[in-house]
Amino acid sequence: ATTLGASAAQTGRYFGVATSAFRLSDTNYMTILNREFNSIVAENDMKWDATEPQQGRFNYTNGDRLVSHAQSRGMKVRGHALLWHAQQPSWAQGMSGSALRNAAINHVTQVATHFRGKIHSWDVVNEAFADGGSGGRRDSNLQRTGNDWIEAAFRAARAADPGAKLCYNDYNTDGINAKSTGIYNMVRDFKSRGVPIDCVGLQSHLGTTLDSTYQQNIQRFADLGVDVQITELDVQQGGNQANIYASVTRACMAVARCTGITVWGLRDPESWRTGANPLLFDGNGNKKAAYTSVLNALNAG
Ligand code: G3I
Repeated sequence: ATTLGASAAQTGRYFGVATSAFRLSDTNYMTILNREFNSIVAENDMKWDATEPQQGRFNYTNGDRLVSHAQSRGMKVRGHALLWHAQQPSWAQGMSGSALRNAAINHVTQVATHFRGKIHSWDVVNEAFADGGSGGRRDSNLQRTGNDWIEAAFRAARAADPGAKLCYNDYNTDGINAKSTGIYNMVRDFKSRGVPIDCVGLQSHLGTTLDSTYQQNIQRFADLGVDVQITELDVQQGGNQANIYASVTRACMAVARCTGITVWGLRDPESWRTGANPLLFDGNGNKKAAYTSVLNALNAG
C-alpha cells in the first residue's frame, strides 16, 4: 500500500500520529494527517490539566473535536493520559493523601466515562517508574498516596470503559534494562492477580542508536499476555534516522502482539524536541527518507 495507515492495516495494525485540536484548521497539515494515518492521539488535549482545569469542572471541548474528526474518517483514537505526575492542574499539584487519591480516581472515572466507546486504548498511567538502575517507582504526589495507586487507576478505568484497552506507558524502555524490567515485573504481577491491564506502551523517544534488545523487550512483554504499542516514536535526526525508524517498525512487525505504532508529531518544526528534526515529514510537509523506510518496512510485513 502507499500510505502508512493502509500499509499497517495490511497486517491488522494501525499507524498513528499525535496531534492537537488547534491543528484541525491547518490545511497542509490535515491533508497529510488524513492521507497517511489511521489512528490519532491527543498530544496534550486529553491530559489532566486540559480536561479538569478546576476540580470537578471538566472541559472536553478539544478532546471531543479530535474524537469527532477521527470518527468521521474511521480512525482509531488512543487516549493519553489519565494519570501522570506531570501536566497536572495546579489544584492537584498541591494535594496529597486520600484527598489526592480520591481526586485522581474520580478523574479516571469521569474522563474514561465521557469518552466511553470511543477510545481504542487508554494510557491509564504514564511514566510512573524511575529512571536509572533502581527499577522502582518514580517519586510523585500520586506515588505518595500508596503503591497501589496504579492498580486502583486501572480498575477504575475498566469499570468506566470496559471496551477500551488499558495501557501502562513509559519512556527509556527501549531495551531490556532496569526500568523496563521494573515495569515488566509490575505487569506480570497485575496479570497474576487479575488487575485489568491489556497493553504496554513503549514511548520510544530515540537518539542516534537503537538498543540491540529493542525487539526482545517487545517480545517479553507480549509473552506476558499483553499487547505492546509503540506510542510516541520520534528519532533524533542524524546519519541513522531512516535506519532506526525502519528497525523499530520491523521489530514491531516481528511480534504478533505489537499492534500499532504512533509517531509523536507530524512535521519536524512542531516536535517537542526542538532542533532534533525527529519526525517523518519536514516543515513543508514533504516526506523524508525516514518516511520511505517506514513505509517499506510496513509493506515488507
Ligand atoms: O497550553 C499552554 C498555553 O496555554 C500556554 O500559553 C503555553 C505557554 O508555555 O503553554 C502551553 O502549554 C504547553 C503544552 O505543551 C501545550 O502546547 C506546555 O507549556 C508544554 O510544556 C507542553 O509540552 C508538552 C509536554 O508533553 C508536557 O510535558 C508537549 O507538547 C508534549 O509533546 C509532551 O508530550 C510528552 C507525553 O505527553 C508523555 N511522554 C513524553 C512526551 C514528551 O515530553
